Amino acid sequence: MNLFVANWKMNLGGRKSLQLAEELIDSLPEPLPGEVVLCPPATALFMVGEKLKGTPLQLGCQNIYHEEKGAYTGEISPSFVKEAGALYVMVGHSERRHYFQEGGQLLARKIKVALQWGLQPILCVGENLEERETNRAWPRVKEQITEALVGFEEGELKDLVVAYEPVWAIGTGHSAQPADVQEMVYFIREELVNLRGLRILYGGSVKGDNIKDFMELPDIEGVLVGGASLDAREFSRIVNWEKN
Ligand code: 13P
Repeated sequence: MNLFVANWKMNLGGRKSLQLAEELIDSLPEPLPGEVVLCPPATALFMVGEKLKGTPLQLGCQNIYHEEKGAYTGEISPSFVKEAGALYVMVGHSERRHYFQEGGQLLARKIKVALQWGLQPILCVGENLEERETNRAWPRVKEQITEALVGFEEGELKDLVVAYEPVWAIGTGHSAQPADVQEMVYFIREELVNLRGLRILYGGSVKGDNIKDFMELPDIEGVLVGGASLDAREFSRIVNWEKN
């Protein structure tokens, strides 16, 4: 089933998150043409989770820590995320890789703990501009995936989602070329992950005007949306892409 994930990043506090969740509950099409997941900031997670109860919308978290509890000041336990009602968690978003030096084995540990708590990990991968321009996009994505999935048995990863988000397309208004996206996600599916039923999303400047280009790609089953998910009308257009 197609998956539409709204990543609100660090843009909305509790009140505004709740307001946007309400607007989306009212404006999204019924029945939903896929799974819709809202990922508010951690402080709004519980409230938005309560609001989504009884609706077809799902809750996701933008990040978790790889331990369940203890003296880890400022971190977010997977058990708290689960308690808030989340079903999904993002792992290794490029902003976490860039600003918080996340990568490698740490992400494998996050994926492991997410699965232990029944949270479906959305593993984010993608090359930066320099890597794209110097033909190193493929080895970079290969490295990110191999490191994050090291040590897993195939059966353990049935709930894994991969999001391909080229760093240079995030928040820039310049989305990737659909043909390049298809090439990369085919590579991810066939060469790197090779899991039956794996869902791969595209992310990077997705909007109502370009959603169709990505959803029509044979190996894409959804999108991870930043900026355009902060506007209920625009995100509804994205979710409702087939009717637009
Ligand atoms: P934009 O849609 O703002 O480019 O952000 C993409 C993203 O980082 C989603 O996780």
